[in-house]
Amino acid sequence: MDSIKIKDKTFVVSIKEKDIQKEIIRVAGEINRDLVGKNPIFLCVLNGAFMFAADLMKRITIPCEISFVKLASYRGLMSSGKIKEVIGLNEDITDRTVVIVEDIVDTGLTMQRLIESLGTRSPKEIHIASLLVKPEKLVVELNIEYAAMSIPNDFIVGFGLDYDGYGRNYPDIYTVTEEG
Ligand code: IMP
Repeated sequence: MDSIKIKDKTFVVSIKEKDIQKEIIRVAGEINRDLVGKNPIFLCVLNGAFMFAADLMKRITIPCEISFVKLASYRGLMSSGKIKEVIGLNEDITDRTVVIVEDIVDTGLTMQRLIESLGTRSPKEIHIASLLVKPEKLVVELNIEYAAMSIPNDFIVGFGLDYDGYGRNYPDIYTVTEEG
């Protein structure tokens, strides 16, 4: 499929599954090399990272654990902005090497909030693995050590990423077109 329609928008294929897998294999190799002996715990951020995490983890050969977290947005009583809270983390990450597994880092604000929140649980170190990064959009300083791919500032779907809940199931990545 070269193009797909989701609700009011048309998307064209921009990164094929074969090329995504090649980069995931590269990132897995780097993690296997860098984190050997560290017994890391991977935290997959749902929903978007489920497909990336599944393919990445199949290539991780060092002893490790995987767990799944969600970020719940709510409006704080004292704040006008949205606050994101990490939910679903039952494991004790004290003194652990943590690898956050994300679908995409856009402005980086979500990742920053996640790191802040996990930081209060006294991990030994936190690493970031993200399927995609939009470097032009980053507004905070983040050390994204394990980025599979960098993309321009366009809205995409597929390989776990959605538009209004749809499109996560596609094995390729699609970029929105101007025509809508
Ligand atoms: P950030 O806080 O601006 O870095 O946003 C990160 C979150 O926004 C990701 O975890 C995605 O859920 C969502 N997001 C950002 N860009 C896209 C995109 O192009 N397609 C689908 N979701 C996106």
